[in-house]
Amino acid sequence: MSCIEVHSLSKSYSSILAVDTIDLSVESGQVFGFLGPNGAGKSTVIKLLTTLIQPDSGQISVLGVNAIKEPLKIRKKIGVVLQQPSYEPTLSVEKSLEKYGMMWNVDKKTRQIRTEELLESFELTQIRKKKNEDLSIGQRRRVQVAREFMHDMDLLFLDEPTVGLDPSARRKLLDFLKNKVKDTGMTIFYTTHVLTEAEYLCDNIAIINNGKIITVDSPNELKNRFGNEKTIKIHVSEQFIQLPNLLKDIPDCNIEKSDGIIITIHSTNSEIVLMNILKILNQNNIPISDLSAMPTNLEEIFLKVVSDSDASNN
Ligand SMILES: Nc1ncnc2c1ncn2[C@@H]1O[C@H](COP(=O)(O)OP(=O)(O)O)[C@@H](O)[C@H]1O
Ligand SMILES: [Mg+2]
Repeated sequence: MSCIEVHSLSKSYSSILAVDTIDLSVESGQVFGFLGPNGAGKSTVIKLLTTLIQPDSGQISVLGVNAIKEPLKIRKKIGVVLQQPSYEPTLSVEKSLEKYGMMWNVDKKTRQIRTEELLESFELTQIRKKKNEDLSIGQRRRVQVAREFMHDMDLLFLDEPTVGLDPSARRKLLDFLKNKVKDTGMTIFYTTHVLTEAEYLCDNIAIINNGKIITVDSPNELKNRFGNEKTIKIHVSEQFIQLPNLLKDIPDCNIEKSDGIIITIHSTNSEIVLMNILKILNQNNIPISDLSAMPTNLEEIFLKVVSDSDASNN
C-alpha cells in the first residue's frame, strides 16, 4: 500500500526554489531515506508532508488523505520530529514523556508502561529526573525522539534525528527504529545527510539536491548502479611524479589524485587495470609498498551523484 504520494510538488521562499517539481511515492512498512546535503530541501519536504507549510503547487497525499484539503486529519495520524530542538526547559525527562502521552490522549496505564520502556530504550533512565534545560544536546535530542513513541502512529517523520548523538547512541536509535518498523509495520520517513546511516537503516533511498530528486533506489540497487566501480590505491616506495603520466593511457583507469607517492584510481574494470598498472610499474622499476582495490563505497557514490547533478545544473 502506498503511504505517501507526491506529484509535481514545488515550494519557494521568496527567490529560493527550495522544492522543485518533485514526484515521490513511498510504500508502507518501510524506512524511507531522504538523503541530501545541507540546503537540499529535505526539511522543506518534511514540513510540506506534515502539513506545517503549504506548497506553491502540486499534490500531496499522506495515508490516503489529501494534505492540502484535510491537513488536520493527517496530523492526527502521524508523528513528526522536526530538525530544530523542541522542549520545555523546566520539565524533567520522565515528565516530558508523560506529558506528551497525555497530549495524545494515551491512557494512564499505557503511558506508564511506555515511559518506562522508552526511558530504557533511549538510555534515559539515569537522567529521568533531570530537567531538559540541564541536558546535553544529544540527551535532549533523544528525549525529543523518544517522546514521539508515546503514541501509536502509522507514519513517522524524522528530520535528521541523529545530529548531536554520539556513535553508540546513534547506532542504538537506528536499531530501535529498524525494530519498530519490523514489529509494527509502521512507515518511517527519515532524512539525513549521512549516507552510511541511510545505507544501514533504509529500505529505499531518495537522493535530493537543489530541491530536485535525483534518484530513488534501494541501497543495493544504488550500489549496483553506481558501484561496480572500484577504488584502487597504489603506494610507491619513493616519490615518482611522472606516475600519473605513465598510467594515464590504460583504458578505464580514471586517476583521481596523485602526490607521486600515493595514487588513487577509479575503475569499473579493476582487474585488467591492476594488471596493466603492475606491468608498467615493473617495466619502470618502481617498487610498490602497498596496493589495494576496494569497492567504491556508497558515500563516494552519493557525493558523485550530487556533484554530477550540480554540474548538469550549471
Ligand atoms: N524559512 C525559510 N525562509 C527562507 N529560506 C528558507 C527557509 N527555510 C529553508 N530555506 C531555504 O530553502 C532551501 C532548502 O532548505 P531546507 O529544506 O532546510 O534544506 P535541508 O533540510 O535539506 O538542509 C535552502 O536554500 C534554505 O536556505
Ligand atoms: Mg534540514
